[in-house]
Order: sequence, then structure tokens, then C-alpha cells
Amino acid sequence: MSSRELHDFLRESTDSGPSCATAHSAGDVGSSVPALQRLRAGLIHAMGLAPSLALAAALGACVGGDKGAVDDEDEVPWGGDDTGELARVCGDVTELEEAVEAGSVGEGEVLVCIDLPSDGADCPPWPEDALREQLWEVAGAPATDCVWHPDKVCGPETGIQDACCYVADILVECWSEGRPFTVDGEARTACLVDGSSWSSAMGTLPTLTDVQVRAAEGWAEAALAEHASVASFGRFVLELMAVGAPPELVAGATRAMADEIAHARLAFGVVERLSGQARGPGALPLAGALPEHVTLRDVVMGTLAEGCVNETLAAAEARAAASVCQDPQICPVLERIAVDEAEHSALAWRFLRWALCQDPSLIAEVGAWLTAHGAPTINKADPDPALAAFGRLDGPTRAGLAESVWSHVILPAWDALRHDLLAEVRDGASAA
Ligand SMILES: [Fe+2]
Ligand SMILES: [Fe+2]
Repeated sequence: MSSRELHDFLRESTDSGPSCATAHSAGDVGSSVPALQRLRAGLIHAMGLAPSLALAAALGACVGGDKGAVDDEDEVPWGGDDTGELARVCGDVTELEEAVEAGSVGEGEVLVCIDLPSDGADCPPWPEDALREQLWEVAGAPATDCVWHPDKVCGPETGIQDACCYVADILVECWSEGRPFTVDGEARTACLVDGSSWSSAMGTLPTLTDVQVRAAEGWAEAALAEHASVASFGRFVLELMAVGAPPELVAGATRAMADEIAHARLAFGVVERLSGQARGPGALPLAGALPEHVTLRDVVMGTLAEGCVNETLAAAEARAAASVCQDPQICPVLERIAVDEAEHSALAWRFLRWALCQDPSLIAEVGAWLTAHGAPTINKADPDPALAAFGRLDGPTRAGLAESVWSHVILPAWDALRHDLLAEVRDGASAA
């Protein structure tokens, strides 16, 4: 399959839904199962998993690579099994309420408690959703597009009888639209500055409303994220070369970098259209962004989060936003971003396939990561459906879409890839 054919396929898979010019209800935001099935099909085709495609051969068969220590599917769990920690007795740590008073939530371990089960059952092993809700209730929301993530340390605490208590390492997870530029676990963006050559001219709206101002704020965040994606792909090109990736993947990453420049310019253009102010990115700090040593594992895990998950969700979000957008200049921007992000997602999955062929021992780690993380958690606070007309989805809509994409696209794509990889590994082992 040529890159042109792949591009056309993905375009078809993301263009065949309702057009931007069509009015839609708030409940119909392009997140229907058929729309997601098309996105999933695009990824599975892009990885060469469909029998009729020749892309797998173009990427190289697994049987030529280093197989690592995978002999049987049963030895590769879908995800990690961390129940071994549950027997540990939790130590004294700061209680959540004290951490809130001290302003230290997100800086380490805290004790988080929820009510005992009403039916008299034992405390559950790790009720992550309930703990996250408790964090939200007691500590509030960390920031726009960010959520508290309770990473399990231990629990339930056996020394506390009147509640179910757990020690959690509280992290702040921020959703970044598209491929984030992650440094030390945090998405890094430039600062927003006045006046910019990054703003694509698309004409300003004649009036300025409160809704436009709020939409412009969202688009400014998106524009900075798109700008950061340029750096992320720049680093990815270097990483691909460092791990000896084939030229198709390197070329795909350089094309994606150019796409992200276009996305950033368009998004800053939307900011100007809505607010009447030309804004753009300041300098992007690069300190610590380039690791001294690049390993295949690190590139795989980074691509998994930033490309396979984030860009897949970004493609679905842009597609959904385009389906409810009503501004004639903004809708085409979203449609273009939806097509490009689907292609970037496909690139990430193709890289994953190639990389896991090189080292199948990473298959288990990828599965464990997916199981441990689940769907990206998105801030549901302050729903603002009025922004949809300008291409901004509100938190509850995006959170629901993230769950759907996770269930209907990402996990099935991984399942298909994993089974294909394991079959190839087994075939290679039996032929040896
Ligand atoms: Fe983008
Ligand atoms: Fe992208």
C-alpha cells in the first residue's frame, strides 16, 4: 500500500461522516460507533493487519527480528497484575485534607479515604474512579484539561476500620490535544505572546462576544499544543534514526512535523478570527528534552502514549468537533486536523508494529501500560456547550468520547496487533 493510498484510505475513513456545514445536535458529535469503527479500521489497515494489504511486508516481517523471550501467548498478559502490593501495610502519610490545606496535593503520597461499601463487603482492592472523585471533591480540579491521577502505592489500609483508605501517589495528568511534547512526564508548550507570524489569516468576526472569547482561549491552548507537536515530531525523527527505523517511518514523521506547523498556524488563525488579536508562541524551552541515550523501549512507550493514544483521540475529537462546528472558516480547519491526526495516529501504530517486531519482549509491557492507564481522563468541569459552534467540545462530551475511542478504537487496534505479533513470533520460532 503506497503512502498515497494510505492517505486516501484514512481520508475516506474520517471524511465519510456528516459534513461541517450540516447542523447537528449536541448529542451527535461524530463519536458514533460507526465513525469510530472507521477510525479503528484505518489503524488496523495502516498496521498491515488486513490480509489484502501489503504494508506488513513493506515494514518487514517479524521473523527477521530479534524475538526476545516470548514463546507462548499465555505468557504475555493483557496487562499487569499488581495485586501483590495489596498485602502491604500502608505507612503513615499525609491525609488528603491536610495536603489540601498545605497546598501540596500532587507533590507526593497522600492517604485518600472513601466510605465503606454499603453492603458490608470488604474494601475493594483499588477503586480508582472513586478515589479520583474523592480527590476532585476535596482538592478541586487541578487546572483546565488536567485531572488528578491517583497512582496506587498500597491499600486498603488494614489499620483503619471506619473507611476504605489507600495511599496514593497523586500526579497531575493534563490532556494535550494531539501529540504532546513531553519532558520528564509533563507536556511542555511555549508561552502565548502577542502578535505573530504564526497566525494564518482567515478574517476576524465582526463582533466580539463572551462565547468567542472563551472559545478563543480554548483555541489558544490548542494552538500551543499544535506548536509543541512540531517539536515532538522533530524529536521523534531523531529517535527513529537512533533506533534504526526504516525510511518510511522517518519520512512519515517529517511529513507529520510539517502538518503540525500547518495546524499551529491554522489554530492561531482561529484565535485571531475569534478574538481579533494576533497571538502566537514564544520560545519553546528545550532543556532536558533530548535524552542522552535513546532506547527502543523508551521510544515505544513514548509513542504509545503520545501517538497511539493521544493522536487517535485527537483525530476523533477533531472529527467530532467538525461535525458540530458552525463557523465556515473554523470547520475546514477541524476537518483537516481530523484527517492529519488520523494519519499521525496510523504512523504511531505502524512504528509500534515495527518496534515490537524488533523486540517482542516489549509486547507485555505495552499491554500492561494500556491496562494500567485506561482511557485518558479529561476534566469534566464547567461544561460550556455554546463553544461547540466554534469547534470546541466541552469536558463531558470529550470525556465520553475518550471512553468510546478507548473501547472502540485503541483497545481493539492493540488486540489485533498483539495477536498478529504473537502469531508471527510463534511462526518464526517453529520455523527456526
Ligand atoms: Fe496536530
Ligand atoms: Fe498530530
